[in-house]
Amino acid sequence: MNSAETDCAAAFCHAMLTPDGRRTGRLNIAVGKGLNMRKAVLLGAVALLATAGLARADGLNLIEFRQTGMDLQSSGFAGIRAVVAAKGDIKTLEAPAKALQRWAALIPAVYPKGTETGGNTKALPEVWSDAAGFQKAAAALGEASGKLAELAKTGDADAVAAQVKLVGAACSACHNSYKAK
Ligand code: HEC
Repeated sequence: MNSAETDCAAAFCHAMLTPDGRRTGRLNIAVGKGLNMRKAVLLGAVALLATAGLARADGLNLIEFRQTGMDLQSSGFAGIRAVVAAKGDIKTLEAPAKALQRWAALIPAVYPKGTETGGNTKALPEVWSDAAGFQKAAAALGEASGKLAELAKTGDADAVAAQVKLVGAACSACHNSYKAK
C-alpha cells in the first residue's frame, strides 16, 4: 500500500466511524481517489460489525454469556487459589492464568449498548456511562493475570501467591464500581 492509499484507507475508516454513522464527503473522496473496492467492502464490513456489534448476534444471549464467562473465570481462579493454598505444582497455573488473561481482554465486548437491562443482570449503569473506566478495570485484570502466568512459569511460589492477591484485587476493584451486590 503506498502512502496515498494508506491515507485514503484511514480517511475511509474515520468516515465510516463517525458517531452518527452518516456517509460523509470524505468517504466519497477517499473512494474516488481509487481506494481498492475490495478493501472498501472489507472496511465497510468491519465498521458495520463495530457498530452493530455483538448486541445483535443471532441466538446469543449476551447477558447469560457474560455471566457464564464470569462463573467459569471464577471457578478457574478458585482452582488457582486452591493450588497455591495446597502448595501444589505452581507451574500448572500458567495455563489457567493465561485463560483469565484472554477472558479479561473480551470483557468489554460482552457489554455492548443494548444489554444494560434484561435477565437478572447485575451490571451497573456505570459500565456504560463510564465505559473508559470499565475498560481500564478489565485491562487491569488482564495485566495482573498475564503477570501471574509469567510468574507461574518460573515456579516461584511466593511470587505467585502475592500475584494471586493482586488478581483478586482486580476482580473486586471492578465489582465495586460496576457490579451490583
Ligand atoms: C471489568 C470488570 C470486571 C472484572 C475485572 C471482573 N468482573 Fe466479575 N462481573 C462484572 C460484572 C459487570 C458482573 C455482572 C454481569 C451481569 O450480571 O451481567 C460480574 C459478575 C460476576 C460473577 C457473577 C456471575 C453470574 O453468574 O451472575 C462472578 C462469579 C464474577 N463476576 C467473578 C469474577 C472474578 C472471580 C473476577 C476476577 C478473576 C472478576 N469477576 C472480574 C465485572 C467484572
